[in-house]
Amino acid sequence: MKNLQKGPLIISGNAHKDLSKDIAKYIGQDLTKSEVFKFINDNTFVRILENVRERDVFIIQPTSFPVNDHIMELLIMIDAAKRASAGRITAVIPYFSYARTDKKDQPRVPITGKLIADLVTTAGADRVMLMDLHAGQVQGFFSATVDELTALPILARYFIEKKLDDIVVVSPDIGGTKRARDFANKLGAPLAIIEKRRIGNKDTVESLNIIGDVKGQSAVLFDDEINTGGTMLAGSVLLKENGVKDVYVAATHGVFPEDSIEKIVNSKEIKEVVVTNSLPINYKSEKLKILSISELLGEAIKRTNRGDSVGALFL
Ligand code: R5P
Repeated sequence: MKNLQKGPLIISGNAHKDLSKDIAKYIGQDLTKSEVFKFINDNTFVRILENVRERDVFIIQPTSFPVNDHIMELLIMIDAAKRASAGRITAVIPYFSYARTDKKDQPRVPITGKLIADLVTTAGADRVMLMDLHAGQVQGFFSATVDELTALPILARYFIEKKLDDIVVVSPDIGGTKRARDFANKLGAPLAIIEKRRIGNKDTVESLNIIGDVKGQSAVLFDDEINTGGTMLAGSVLLKENGVKDVYVAATHGVFPEDSIEKIVNSKEIKEVVVTNSLPINYKSEKLKILSISELLGEAIKRTNRGDSVGALFL
């Protein structure tokens, strides 16, 4: 007999303890005690230190750096919860790395997003909670039930409260047009699109043309994620060359490998960088604004546990 009505239990991996604690606080409880560490031989060990038998367990683990270690941790935590007779297991993965490796678009390449999704469900996840995937179709890689949340209302509220004049939302590439269109609708702003070209398999980006009117306006370059920042930097230069007053860059996920965050924040073309805490970001700057998704995730977890609508959060 499943004891889901006893309320959710929140277990954190090592990827983003602060986010897990904030989610648990929103729900009004402590994290379920667990230990997750590596033995000297590099093997990951997990032990859940409280009873989870028949309970509704949520494991919080964005796939932050080191990505492969955190994926392995997640799989082992799911396995531990399953073997501890959890009633239902939800893998909460606010940032799903490898989601961009989603098709065989060159000879002899893998579809790693699908492979990881298979591993998560094979490990024993009954449900998966994701956020702002690079492409929504990636939901279908999971055979478990998926809820894909979006931080779009959180990001939109931030810009609405800023009360910027003459705002235009800009998609940094043609593939992101629908996402940027939805964001522009929330802000009641027009949309422009940059034509971007990625050179080979490298992270080098070239911005070519702007479709739409941007001159004299405040532009919000809007994307699902900022990785190396190449896309946003190239887009910002092009926007400034085309007479944009101020460039804001905004995305749900700030991946920021190596020193990329410094490059973006120190760019003279960019006025502000706005991301969420779907990934841990240990960098402070007046030009960097990190918006919290903990209440959104906490509320989605509460609703999932009670069997209430999660979609209603976004109406
Ligand atoms: C890819 O198309 C994504 O939507 C982002 O544009 C991309 O991940 C950004 O990568 P980077 O910051 O390395 O240019």
